[in-house]
Amino acid sequence: MSDWTVEDIEKLGEQVEAEAAAAPDLQALEQVRIAYLGREGRITAALKAIGKMPADQRPAAGKAANLARQRAQQAIASRRKELEAAQTRAGADDQLDVTLPGVGPELGHRHPIMIVLEELCDIFIGMGYEVVSGPEAEWQALNWTALNYPPDHPAMDEQASFYVNDEVMLRTHTSPVQIRAMRARHQPDCPVRQLDWRVPPMEVLGHCRCTPSPVRVVVPGRTYRRESVTLTHHDIFYQFECLLIGEGISFADLHGTMATFVREYFGPNTRIRFRPDFFPFTEPSADFSINCEMCGGEGCRFCKDSGWVEIGGSGLVHPNVLTAGGYDPDKVSGFAFGFGVDRLAQRRFHIEDIRTLYENDMRFLRQF
Ligand code: PHE
Repeated sequence: MSDWTVEDIEKLGEQVEAEAAAAPDLQALEQVRIAYLGREGRITAALKAIGKMPADQRPAAGKAANLARQRAQQAIASRRKELEAAQTRAGADDQLDVTLPGVGPELGHRHPIMIVLEELCDIFIGMGYEVVSGPEAEWQALNWTALNYPPDHPAMDEQASFYVNDEVMLRTHTSPVQIRAMRARHQPDCPVRQLDWRVPPMEVLGHCRCTPSPVRVVVPGRTYRRESVTLTHHDIFYQFECLLIGEGISFADLHGTMATFVREYFGPNTRIRFRPDFFPFTEPSADFSINCEMCGGEGCRFCKDSGWVEIGGSGLVHPNVLTAGGYDPDKVSGFAFGFGVDRLAQRRFHIEDIRTLYENDMRFLRQF
């Protein structure tokens, strides 16, 4: 082709730029280079043709051809840079450096309170207990009345508890589940099973048409009290409750069960101490402490120099509570005890500030 025009040559510059930019890889780009700048290339051919052109056209055609060559060289060089950079990036992604530390998937953690609750449940499951639960928003009738609280008991004060409405509140302890567990152990066709929770406690036994089964349950659960939140107190906390009802259950059974439990949980040398106390739903009632393992009973700041650490409350189930559960207090008896779980988790994991248990701070939770 010897009849080149200046426009033809300018077009070559445009074409080579477009084709170079569109080249998908280095090999394709090399084909573009050969097609335009190679020995047989189109720009090379244009450059060669200039010598054969009429003298008056040569300067303009020569200028255009040089420009086209320049555009081609620039377009190809810049596309090469792009493709090479992409190749290095891809190469880096493909390469596996086996000496790098692995990136493990982030796993969930058990909350320290859950760790303690599960251990407690395991111990009692081993003794033949069943784990049961009840609602956190509870009938006032179960949180108080069925548990033999007199109508004017100070714990019922609005300043001490969270009320939802006239009948429902956030439970202040896990003890209302005692009533639920008792009524659930009546035979399937016994009216007590369907009874409204608000029926006056002393009337429940009158509805019973069966012999309810013995009760052997533990209740782990969240409880609420209207307290200002401090280093040592929270308005949300966890309790663990134990209830056993059957024929001839005595304080000796309570003591034996508790001793077994504290030795399993706190260690084989743990001793237990009862002191008289009062709860409306047990009679007699006793608080219970264990010997302080920090000082071995010598006295330290953990036990406030007493050598004993108070754990919770206990007692024999009050006859009125048995009645509220539809059990005949002349035929059966039982024991119950309950304690706070947060303190156990604090001691176990050396957690100073109780609030950290409820703040969901990942830096804290990751440690467990
Ligand atoms: N419910 C009591 C409390 O919250 C503990 C307790 C449970 C006491 C069972 C006696 C029997 O303090």
